[in-house]
Amino acid sequence: MKPVVFITGATSGFGRASARRFAAAGWSLILCGRRADRLEALKQELQGQVPVHTAVLDVRDAQAVADMVQALPGPFTAVTTLVNNAGLALAAQPAQEVALQDWQTMIDTNVTGLVNVTHALLPRLIETGAGASIINIGSVAGQWPYPGGHVYGATKAFVQQFSYNLRCDLIKTGVRVTDIAPGMAETEFSLVRYKGNQDAAEKIYRGTTPMSAEDIAEQIFYVASLPPHLNINRLEIMPVRQAWSPFAVDRDG
Ligand SMILES: NC(=O)c1ccc[n+]([C@@H]2O[C@H](COP(=O)([O-])OP(=O)(O)OC[C@H]3O[C@@H](n4cnc5c(N)ncnc54)[C@H](OP(=O)(O)O)[C@@H]3O)[C@@H](O)[C@H]2O)c1
Repeated sequence: MKPVVFITGATSGFGRASARRFAAAGWSLILCGRRADRLEALKQELQGQVPVHTAVLDVRDAQAVADMVQALPGPFTAVTTLVNNAGLALAAQPAQEVALQDWQTMIDTNVTGLVNVTHALLPRLIETGAGASIINIGSVAGQWPYPGGHVYGATKAFVQQFSYNLRCDLIKTGVRVTDIAPGMAETEFSLVRYKGNQDAAEKIYRGTTPMSAEDIAEQIFYVASLPPHLNINRLEIMPVRQAWSPFAVDRDG
């Protein structure tokens, strides 16, 4: 039987590139996101290659997530790999200037949404057993603080710890859990963060060499394809032209 991958946030960036990468290897695809037109376009592109099931889904809606998983058609019920990718950053200004709603949207999507999908799919993944994987997309922001990281980084720290804790409970099930923590990658991520301001978004990537969505999709596929007895706990990856800064020190004068 073909392995089945369930990808959240498949309408853009890492999720869409992963759909293409898994399709190239013959996996069946379950693709979710809120933008129906993007899902339909991806289905048209890939369904000649592999079986594709799409679902318009807001991961923040626990009932909608549970219903969607319950309603998966026969050939898609045996999920091999869950890629918990849907997520976003909002606001890059200092914490004290950010609207509460932006913080809440990040928590609702990156934390609650990821938990909703994981909870709904755990029984299916455990049924699959050896070789099954949960691949959570965290971020370097979950480990390394930076100005303007506030709640975004905190949600990704949750993703890391939740991934580790899941491993403890799933040890006897064969289900692997990995936190993939990318650094700077050029997707629609910055366009979302700067709320549609194309110039502000492009500035982030100007004059440097960020990672691409395909670079990360390759890592996601690699993790999902490892022999069933191996678990990568956390995979942190940056472009060569990104590193850390010195500590900030506030001085008089
Ligand atoms: N790009 C980077 O530099 C970077 C670095 C580290 C980590 N990440 C993480 O990587 C993941 C993917 O980001 P990306 O860079 O590929 O950004 P992207 O191009 O903006 O893609 C984000 C995806 O998430 C989906 N999404 C957002 N909110 C959703 C919701 N409520 N329900 C369902 N789907 C939702 C979007 O689909 P719809 O809008 O159609 O719903 C979209 O497909 C995120 O978790 C992000 O935090 C990105």
